[in-house]
Amino acid sequence: MRLEQRISVFPDAREVGRRLAARVADAIRNQPAIVLGLPTGRTPLLFYEELAALARSGAVDFSRVTTFNLDEFLGLTPEHPSSYRRFMQRYLFDHVNIDPARINFLNGAAADAAAEADRYEHAIAAAGGIDLVILGIGTNGHIGFNEPSSGLEARTHRVTLQPETRRSNAPLFGDDLDAVPLEALSMGMGTILDARAAVLLATGARKASCVERLVTGPITTGLPASFLQLHRDVEIMLDEAAAQRIRS
Ligand code: PGA
Repeated sequence: MRLEQRISVFPDAREVGRRLAARVADAIRNQPAIVLGLPTGRTPLLFYEELAALARSGAVDFSRVTTFNLDEFLGLTPEHPSSYRRFMQRYLFDHVNIDPARINFLNGAAADAAAEADRYEHAIAAAGGIDLVILGIGTNGHIGFNEPSSGLEARTHRVTLQPETRRSNAPLFGDDLDAVPLEALSMGMGTILDARAAVLLATGARKASCVERLVTGPITTGLPASFLQLHRDVEIMLDEAAAQRIRS
């Protein structure tokens, strides 16, 4: 099916969060031991809020769910207040009955980044692979921290963050751009595309241009998200603002 046919547009970001939370809750009910791939960033906040509300109401049970987050800043310990690990704890894990042993994360402070990336790939394989990955998209078209480039890497690896990506993440560091790490660890394109199903979320007018390129443009390493066009089970969930350039 063409990507255009797999797009849902909702009136606003709250509704995107609500619909995705309902979809993930259904997936967990159908497959209680599901393996999820999870994103960070501003976009998924409403999704996590809605999912936490469903968990609190007893509508979803995380006790057998396994999670793998997409990426982490290099050099930050899991306890660092600006780490993605802390972000997830604050916005999702503290609010659901997930078993801490089933939370998987790249350790940004690992002494050997390449060994840490290998460990993560093995952990994903040992868990049976990712059933459903939820993705945000950077304004530059990245997914995970796979930045636009003349070449993309398949497996989990160390990445250099682009200035645009560091600027987008500055709010996590008290708006101090200098405090945003220069590098990160990220699942690779193959790691992401191996997920059995994928949902990409984009909200707000600042995503309209990369969404347009994702949907109408060619598959190119210059827009890593465009590789989702090759995935057999992908859904794109947008609000009106992010969809404005593909609806005219
Ligand atoms: P954002 O980040 O949700 O903060 O816009 C998205 C991403 O970089 O994947």
